[in-house]
Amino acid sequence: MKAIRASLLWFSGQGAMVRANLEDDGLLIIGTSDPNPGREVILAAGPYQTTLKKWNFDHPDALINGHIENLKGRILAPGFIDLHVHYPQLDVIGSPASGLLTWLNQYTFKQEQRFADPTHSAEVASLFLDELERHGVTTALTFATAHTASVNALFEAAQGRHMRLITGLCLMDQHAPGGLCNDTEQSLVDSELLIQRWHGVDRLGYAISPRFVPSCSAAQLKGAGLLAAQYPDVWIQSHVAENMDEIAWVKRLYPEERSYLSVYDHFGLLRERSLYAHCLHLDAPDFELLRHRHTAAAICPTSNLFLGSGFFDYQAAEQHGFLYGLASDVGGGTSLSPFATMLAAFYIAQNAPPHQRAAYSTKPQHLWWQHTAGAAQALGLEGVVGNLMPGCDADVLVLNPQASPLLARRTAQAQNLDELLFALIVLGDDRLIERTLLAKTTRGDP
Ligand code: GUN
Ligand code: ZN
Repeated sequence: MKAIRASLLWFSGQGAMVRANLEDDGLLIIGTSDPNPGREVILAAGPYQTTLKKWNFDHPDALINGHIENLKGRILAPGFIDLHVHYPQLDVIGSPASGLLTWLNQYTFKQEQRFADPTHSAEVASLFLDELERHGVTTALTFATAHTASVNALFEAAQGRHMRLITGLCLMDQHAPGGLCNDTEQSLVDSELLIQRWHGVDRLGYAISPRFVPSCSAAQLKGAGLLAAQYPDVWIQSHVAENMDEIAWVKRLYPEERSYLSVYDHFGLLRERSLYAHCLHLDAPDFELLRHRHTAAAICPTSNLFLGSGFFDYQAAEQHGFLYGLASDVGGGTSLSPFATMLAAFYIAQNAPPHQRAAYSTKPQHLWWQHTAGAAQALGLEGVVGNLMPGCDADVLVLNPQASPLLARRTAQAQNLDELLFALIVLGDDRLIERTLLAKTTRGDP
């Protein structure tokens, strides 16, 4: 059991009513508990004096007075969640192109072919997870490549450090170099074998991962949908409506479908626990479809800016009420840092035309929520990750607002929580993350 005295940041409320809360003098107690004997969770969180008193009253055999780590001046916050990232694209970051399709062909497909090699996969997987931890990201839904070696390497590395990580074999059997395409039948067999090997083991989860419509044959999309029906609690991840040339290509491939998003629906790939990156150029019936199917949008602001893809419509998200959250989309995205992603989301919302701007979209509390509790909701993991609530996985960040002289000076002048969060979003980087605590799992326990 572990107890820390510090400020606590957590989230409450839904939709436009979401708010962040800061307990200046708080107490967080972490340990294993009966319903979850296999993993470390938050046992208690709240004001220091009352939480301590209640804990000691309820647990006379486990008084914690002498075991409290004092981190006064630090903020404990929920670990960040990245809803969409490509671990094989670390070596692609910062490769400019005129748009998505050129970028894929010129840089991305070349780098991804290297992941046929298990040694390369293991090396990059380890660096990727180091980087996530350094940036305070404790849960990620990530693409791998079309090689099973890339998937196994990432799961093995994440398991070794008790990280909550969701990934899957990238399905792509056409319109890409031979070394990157998988055999249609074999890719579906491999996906199922990988589900059986990894899904639900410790804190790992499997995501059926058709790359995007143009890279998958109808047979492969159909197989992915059938697999999804067979395994209702695995995740689904893909891309939709990112780029106008991509959309025109899908229209040529499926002229009979109402929209790009409808193609996924046709194959049974929209449902709970499905997350679609970008969702930029959708219309009202598409937004309704997202809501109806409980499908989430992964918003990728740095990627959308870098590749010149477009702007996410927050007003539509508010009006139609579908799930969404923030994502880095590295290597189209430019940074694994949630602070960079939140700041880019702010820039976009701040400069969006009024009809795309929702009341909350530029608010720092809401930006932070989209990368924590809101992202957890999009994953179907509300109450499991993304918040400092009893029962949540003990994935906790120790933030040091004094990490640099400028941060210290600026945050000391914050008059309220909005000003503090804004200063952290704008000036924050990996130096702000003093420690990343990952919930331990006890292997073999239920
Ligand atoms: N669409 C299909 N593949 C990709 C990818 O790797 N990155 C982005 N941003 N969009 C995609
Ligand atoms: Zn992507």
